[in-house]
Amino acid sequence: GKGAAMVTAVAQRRASQREEINDTLADFTLSSTQLQQVKEKMRVELERGLRKDSHDSASVKMLPSYVYRTPDGTERGKFLALDLGGTNFRVLVVKIRSGIRKSVRMYNKIYAIPLEIMQGTGEELFDHIVQCISDFLDYMGMKNTRLPLGFTFSFPCSQTGIDKGSLVSWTKGFKATECEGHDVVDMLREAIKRRNEFDLDIVAVVNDTVGTMMTCAYEDPRCEIGLIAGTGSNVCYMEDMKNVEVVEGDEGQMCINTEWGGFGDNDNIEDIRTRFDHEVDEGSLNVGKQRFEKMTSGMYLGEIVRQILIDLTKRGLLFRGRITEPLKTRGIFETKFLSQIESDRLALLQVRSILQHLGLDSTCDDSIIVKEVCGAVSRRAAQLCGAGMAAIVDKIRENRGLDNLDITVGVDGTLYKLHPHFSRILKETVKELAPQCEVEFILSEDGSGKGAALITAVARHRQRQELV
Ligand code: GLC
Repeated sequence: GKGAAMVTAVAQRRASQREEINDTLADFTLSSTQLQQVKEKMRVELERGLRKDSHDSASVKMLPSYVYRTPDGTERGKFLALDLGGTNFRVLVVKIRSGIRKSVRMYNKIYAIPLEIMQGTGEELFDHIVQCISDFLDYMGMKNTRLPLGFTFSFPCSQTGIDKGSLVSWTKGFKATECEGHDVVDMLREAIKRRNEFDLDIVAVVNDTVGTMMTCAYEDPRCEIGLIAGTGSNVCYMEDMKNVEVVEGDEGQMCINTEWGGFGDNDNIEDIRTRFDHEVDEGSLNVGKQRFEKMTSGMYLGEIVRQILIDLTKRGLLFRGRITEPLKTRGIFETKFLSQIESDRLALLQVRSILQHLGLDSTCDDSIIVKEVCGAVSRRAAQLCGAGMAAIVDKIRENRGLDNLDITVGVDGTLYKLHPHFSRILKETVKELAPQCEVEFILSEDGSGKGAALITAVARHRQRQELV
């Protein structure tokens, strides 16, 4: 009768809605072949970045770090370290002991960088940094000690020496004016001079990936790769000098900061970018740049999710078709929330309460859909990172003419550390796409701070040797 027909109509409607949702999320499912292609394309870009004739125009910049080796345990001394470009700005003092009492001790203080400073002028930014250092030195009672300083600056820097690095372009949320194209060490020195209160000996400027690799290598000598899967996404690794065409010399190795976040900026992965990726890009501070980073890092995953939710809502498939204020708010889904929503231990009711907390009124069906959306986006991110990593480890393996390679990756970043599935999927993908490599991942404890100090120690050791 009539009732049965209505039940069927409702069931049909649900089935077709389901189909629409599945279709939307299908674009985020990458086949093995597609991932294999990502790996191959990444490999091509790594080579382009290394070669002299293509370096300047390469999407993956392959920046030399002037770090020639990982630590060997003989490093020692007391250092100051700065860490800018991650979740927080920090100033640290790091004491490294060598020999049988080999150890690293640290004291640090976290400082906020207000948005108006992140996006103000370069002078204001560096004056603020020096103000924080001053506060820290007072706090530690160290105003009159002139310690060597390592500066972890987690942005692409074109280096011509360990203590020289000009900012190529801001990434992530930074935008301070008059910095791009300028040497960050000079800008820091000038700000110290302007303040005219204390002196520092700036020895090294360091990318966070390099700091992470060094920190992990201090514990495990097989660590020759550093990975950050956090606010941003990036990798460094030890490359043979003979392949680093932009630096003089063929002997030994150098750590290369790949800046793989820029992969795709030459349009070569448009086939896997969805209309949601385009939306996110267009709403960002650096349109057209860091396309791979925008598909793989914590700063953007929540934004992709938000774009999908808006789309599904507009099509009447979610939130009763109502676009509310929170849904329109950029940056509302932080990594923290995605991680909570995707936690397996969480009942749907708890997912609803997280959404509620964000101001999103959801039905039970809604919360199932939101969780699926988050899963699709973070899964793709982990697989893409895995495909990129497969390209790196296979390159290192081939460099060494090996059939099989055992290697360790030092990792840091909130996405890797907090997300319930990201690290597992990343590892599975590397295993599948680089079967000849046995890749171990170890977590770095405080890679940026410790790493900057270790690099400073290694660099000073080298400077002293060059003097004799
Ligand atoms: C961005 C930066 C890069 C950094 C990464 C992780 O990709 O450009 O230098 O390593 O974020 O913080």
